[in-house]
Amino acid sequence: MIHIIRKRRSIRHFKSDFVRPEAIKVILDAARWAPSSNNSQPWQFVIISEKEEKVPIAELYVDAYKREAEDMLFRADAEERFKDPFEVKKRILGMLDMLRHQILDPPYIIIACADPRKSKSFLFESGAAIQNMMLTAWDLKLGSCCIELCTTLLSEYFQVDKLKYILDIPEEIVVVALIPIGKIAKMPENPRREILKDFHHTEFW
Ligand SMILES: Cc1cc2nc3c(=O)[nH]c(=O)nc-3n(C[C@H](O)[C@H](O)[C@H](O)COP(=O)(O)O)c2cc1C
Repeated sequence: MIHIIRKRRSIRHFKSDFVRPEAIKVILDAARWAPSSNNSQPWQFVIISEKEEKVPIAELYVDAYKREAEDMLFRADAEERFKDPFEVKKRILGMLDMLRHQILDPPYIIIACADPRKSKSFLFESGAAIQNMMLTAWDLKLGSCCIELCTTLLSEYFQVDKLKYILDIPEEIVVVALIPIGKIAKMPENPRREILKDFHHTEFW
């Protein structure tokens, strides 16, 4: 288990190779075994595999990053958020094609949703379910990535209403994340992680 946890990476370059639908079933099965308060299981998932459905989702994703980049220099909190907003803007604008393909290329996009009426901690529970799914995907030699749409800077620019309209998602349901799933075309470098002594405390803080 620790091996899978350590090796899993967020994948941004996918092959469009076929993935057996049974693999998606195994991945969904992993989601339902996540912990949830009072066993509320607030998650719901929409599985997208049709190219025609992926195109508008990819455009909404790219559009959100574009708006984020365009707004970057005008944000009141730009200086505190980014060391060099100009540089970040340039970097995002240079990534747009890669981001589009992160959604278009993999055979599946799982739209993770949640019903907030079932649990106040639906985001927490969705995170646990999504992690279960990503680790299971990795175990099946598939890549994935969690593109969260509730709390991130990107989520401020993502037009979730349009996504909900396209996918017929009821108003009261929250879209939590997009999760592309597919065979890995390019492995990213290992991102930096804190070392143990920097984030744990023994007996007292
Ligand atoms: C809340 C959240 C939002 C994220 N948003 C994105 C995103 O919009 N696009 C993307 O490619 N990766 C996204 N990621 C993946 C992170 O960039 C990634 O987890 C982090 O860089 C560490 O890399 P690793 O997952 O390979 O260990 C997100 C991850 C989380 C948990």
